[in-house]
Amino acid sequence: MELRRPIPTIGPVEAIPVRRSVPGSVHVGPADATRGADPGSVPELFARLRAEIARDGPITFARFMEVALYDPDFGYYRSETERPGRGGDFLTAPETHPIFGQAIARQVEELWEMLDRPRPFALLEYGAGSGALAEAMLRELERPDGPMTAAVAYEAVEINRFRRAALDARLAAAGLTPHSGDSPAVGCAVANEFLDALPVHRVRWLDGRLVELFVDQAGTSDADGFIDRPDEPSTPALAARLAEEGVVLAEGQQAEVCLGLDAWFEDLAHRLERGYAIVIDYGRPGPELYSAARIAGTVMGYVRHRAIEDPYRNIGRQDLTAHVDFSSVQLAAQHHGFEPLGLTTQAEFLIGAGAEELLERVRSDPRTDLATWVELRSAVVRMLDPRAMGGFRVLVLARNTPASPLPRGLANRTPATPSATGATTARP
Ligand SMILES: C[S@@+](CC[C@H](N)C(=O)[O-])C[C@H]1O[C@@H](n2cnc3c(N)ncnc32)[C@H](O)[C@@H]1O
Repeated sequence: MELRRPIPTIGPVEAIPVRRSVPGSVHVGPADATRGADPGSVPELFARLRAEIARDGPITFARFMEVALYDPDFGYYRSETERPGRGGDFLTAPETHPIFGQAIARQVEELWEMLDRPRPFALLEYGAGSGALAEAMLRELERPDGPMTAAVAYEAVEINRFRRAALDARLAAAGLTPHSGDSPAVGCAVANEFLDALPVHRVRWLDGRLVELFVDQAGTSDADGFIDRPDEPSTPALAARLAEEGVVLAEGQQAEVCLGLDAWFEDLAHRLERGYAIVIDYGRPGPELYSAARIAGTVMGYVRHRAIEDPYRNIGRQDLTAHVDFSSVQLAAQHHGFEPLGLTTQAEFLIGAGAEELLERVRSDPRTDLATWVELRSAVVRMLDPRAMGGFRVLVLARNTPASPLPRGLANRTPATPSATGATTARP
């Protein structure tokens, strides 16, 4: 199932420790505006982009990203090729070890209790990928001694038909059944490393004003690649979004704005009448993300565990992402009736949700051998290490829920400071 409405686009580095690559991954430098065609790009996609620009003029970066990732025939996220995972382009936490999904399941179980144990209880997963997170969560939620085995109704929102088929087969093989719900539900949505792939506009503060970086052809030959082309913003919504979250850019500073968040929350609000959403991704609240220390933007490509600064290479073959601006997410959430309950780090969230109890469960199981234990320990270290995935952010949102205690995943937040949106924010 896909988003009900495509992510709309209007009108076109600094690395926090390499986020999705395995340790020791390679970092490839920035764009070279003088080079020609990139042999790493999918030729058809390269030609489609050139033709669109030749016809309509420079395109927004959001449009470029939309084509590169979502073109129905050749987009990165439409291909059969494996994406997350050790054999793919980047590694996500659920692909590392099931304990990630088990800890989230523990949190989901508590949210179900907080809603007075509804049946059915929808578990929506956006960007479900290979089903690694789904399988881990469902095995935990449907464990024989678990309280909500008969209540949980899982539904994947996944744009890639190959991933979707593999996910269905994986769950069927594990004896877990996905549910296909069409009516608004009571439950919880989970999105792990989903929002970072939504198309972004790129802007820069130049000579005292905001400009947008469009994508233009680097030359007139069919083999020429793409370059940034600064111009008047395609929509006033870009400046308005930055102003709303209190982001003030320094001269020359670059930022990204994701206007597609509104469409995502519209979709989520349509599916989830009452309940919670857990959003996990790399990023920061806007004023931190765009502090004076970060002049470059955060757009980054990933291919075969290499981080690539040039978004115009490997088009259709490299993932394109931007850090998630969590102030922007909280504002969009509020506009669509979701209340931010708190923002914390992945490390704090997993510990609060019960990762240590889950570790102890494995450690004290007499069937656990040394290799299993070592593998689990090293995966957990990576999930909790603030220089690796532990520094990712987790945002918990609520919709039409009764006032209740904070979910356990938010219990360990480091001293909170008020964010630009009035929600509480963990220290970086
Ligand atoms: C970075 S992967 C993360 C996969 C999984 N959540 C994980 O943590 O391993 C992003 C996933 O989201 C899917 N996806 C991207 N954009 C989407 C959209 N607009 N609607 C539904 N799925 C989307 C991709 O096909 C891909 O499987």
